Amino acid sequence: MKLFGSLSEKTDLDEKLRHYRRAGHVVPSKKMIKTPEQIEGIRRSAAVNTAVLDMVAEHIRAGMSTGEIDRLVYDFTVSHGAVPAPLNYEGFPKSVCTSINEEVCHGIPDDDIVLQEGDIINVDVSTILEGYYSDASRMFMIGKVRPSWKRLVEVTKECLERGVAAARPWGFLGDIGEAIQSHAEANGYSVVRDFCGHGVGLQFHEKPEVEHVGKRGHGMLLVPGMVFTIEPMINMGGYEVYVDSDNEWTVLTEDGMPSAQWENTILITDSGVEILTY
Ligand code: MF3
Ligand code: CO
Repeated sequence: MKLFGSLSEKTDLDEKLRHYRRAGHVVPSKKMIKTPEQIEGIRRSAAVNTAVLDMVAEHIRAGMSTGEIDRLVYDFTVSHGAVPAPLNYEGFPKSVCTSINEEVCHGIPDDDIVLQEGDIINVDVSTILEGYYSDASRMFMIGKVRPSWKRLVEVTKECLERGVAAARPWGFLGDIGEAIQSHAEANGYSVVRDFCGHGVGLQFHEKPEVEHVGKRGHGMLLVPGMVFTIEPMINMGGYEVYVDSDNEWTVLTEDGMPSAQWENTILITDSGVEILTY
């Protein structure tokens, strides 16, 4: 009875995917649709990832170096039986990305980089637990931050929330991009084009690419079992960015204006969306 049930469910899914493909939509490959067992593994990884961010939130303060944040993240992650995903990933030298003010993403922690009152910083944490990957980031405001920068941080958080709210089974990736882009641009900001969200779970970065700009009804079909990040990088000025040629990692805004980013890992369910990194 149970076997028959699951077989016919699978046939229903295949049938539905064929229908959408015939209608001209891009549909996810089988690899992008996680099994219940894989989802449980990613969920456990995400629980550790969230605990790391909560721990950072408790400790972060003016006068602390980003090198100290890196050690806190490494020690906490390892003591929970997990491994920081950034460490040695494609040569990345540290356990966490820390990006301050006009740094957009992929900032490298350093003992010589000390947080100052008025800074805004993105701490991007990614965790491997029992082979399963999760990924999330938050902004932190150090002491008193000028109101225009605080607003950038808050609107960027709203962009992530609107992106998540736009995601649903049998919707499209473009629904997410449009929700983010319209809110950012209505507030006078721009959306970074050169970096996107991504599938995550069995590897750090999987397909699909999740763009933070787009058009409703366009892009890949969203199907229950898909797990991916939404991680809009929103600039106060123009969307152009460049990579620091000294370290080949840190991404900065071309115009030197500040940038903010928030990230969650989400699961498309049968009825909606679950944020795994809460
Ligand atoms: N956490 C980043 C992301 O959201 C990945 C950074 S790659 C690293 O995709 F090597 F810099 F960690
Ligand atoms: Co990510």
